[in-house]
Amino acid sequence: MSINYSEKIPNNVNLAEDRKLQRALEHWQPAFIDWWKELGPEGFQANEDYLRTATGVDAKGWASYGYTEMPDYRWGIFLADKTEDRTVGFGDEFGKPVWQEVPGEHRSALRRLIVTQGDTEPASVEQQRLLGQTAPSMYDLRNLLQINVEEGRHLWAMVYLLHGFFGRDGREEAEAMLERHSGDEDNPRILGTFNEPQEEWLSFFTFAYFTDRDGKFQLKSLAESAFDPLSRTCQFMLTEEAHHMFVGETGLGRVIQRTSEVMQELKTDDPARLREHGVIDFGIIQRYINFWFTSSLDLFGTESSSNAANSFAAGLKGRPDEDMYEDHDCSDDTFSLERPHADNGKVITEDIPMRNAMNLVTRNAYIKDCETGLKRWNRQLSKAGVDFTFTLPSDRFHRAIGVWAGFHFGPDGKSMSKTEWESRLYEWVPSREDRDFVKSLMKPVYEPGKIAGWIAPPARGINNNPVDYEYVKL
Ligand SMILES: [Fe+2]
Ligand SMILES: [Fe+2]
Repeated sequence: MSINYSEKIPNNVNLAEDRKLQRALEHWQPAFIDWWKELGPEGFQANEDYLRTATGVDAKGWASYGYTEMPDYRWGIFLADKTEDRTVGFGDEFGKPVWQEVPGEHRSALRRLIVTQGDTEPASVEQQRLLGQTAPSMYDLRNLLQINVEEGRHLWAMVYLLHGFFGRDGREEAEAMLERHSGDEDNPRILGTFNEPQEEWLSFFTFAYFTDRDGKFQLKSLAESAFDPLSRTCQFMLTEEAHHMFVGETGLGRVIQRTSEVMQELKTDDPARLREHGVIDFGIIQRYINFWFTSSLDLFGTESSSNAANSFAAGLKGRPDEDMYEDHDCSDDTFSLERPHADNGKVITEDIPMRNAMNLVTRNAYIKDCETGLKRWNRQLSKAGVDFTFTLPSDRFHRAIGVWAGFHFGPDGKSMSKTEWESRLYEWVPSREDRDFVKSLMKPVYEPGKIAGWIAPPARGINNNPVDYEYVKL
């Protein structure tokens, strides 16, 4: 079987000339397609979808729109343009030339970083695979499928690095990424959040807002890497990530808008009455925010981490927007870390080496970024004259990883007894009843221009097309 590489796999890594890489990809690609057909979006595989495909990294090439059936999607391999004479931006190697090959001493640490990032990409496709069945509109269905094919491309991006730079163990890792599955009891995805089910669209939007944003911050940190191919790959992935967060932010905004319209029509904020009228009350939305936000905080790892310190020292993974810091070495600096005392849970402050605090520095930048959407939704509510404010819970609340895990703090950051915390948990995160109610609203609406009753229509369509455009040919 011969493949016309630039046609089938759009790329800017000179694939047509690279026999070694071709052989590795030829072996992996059929397994990817099998995985896609089995665990990618259920249904819609034989429909023509209006999708964006990256065919180049310049402004014109990175977003070409057209109809395609998903299994024929041209998953490509793109690196952002090379910066000539780029030097290492942080850590012990600061100022030295960046690496075009993997240095032997950093091989296993770099491979682990790439595999951990890569594993999240197919994981989210698996988590979202049934959502097309209940899409609230054709516009939303198309956005879901767009995110799914792009997460597929992100997997390709990481597999390219594994195949291109890590030899045999890289090829084995690439295969393992198709063998682990989200939520699988024996062989789950590496990170917890990516094993959580997304059974309905409120989870999908909240995940796209909070968890794809974690993706943004991980990619920004890796875009600083001294391993130049990783840096350039991640820079290009960030262009696609922006759309995923857009889908999350506007999706949640439209759910909030629809609920506030019905609240004003009925002049009530009574959850029972709102649910009777088929919209999602703000209590549920706040609980979804609390759940996905705190789960996503766990993705940053522990607050004080020798792994993070080593990655920073070696130049493997920096801080997002490393340029905006003055000190790129950080070996004499400290960070004052708040944590609960092991014996009594009382919050104490402890100075730790700054390099060990890099996960937390990144996480704090992430939290700040998360606040932008909440500000926008709250502004939307106050403009509409609705008295409600969405908030982000404290980073001490509902944590499974790091210093706060195992302690009992409320969303307001106050300590409480285990008994009180357990008895009040479903005031703060979605209960089975919340989830069942949200699920009960999920009925597909596929007619162009029509929309489900629990969400407002989008403000505009995709790529200057109208909202009622036929985004998926059913
Ligand atoms: Fe991704
Ligand atoms: Fe994403």
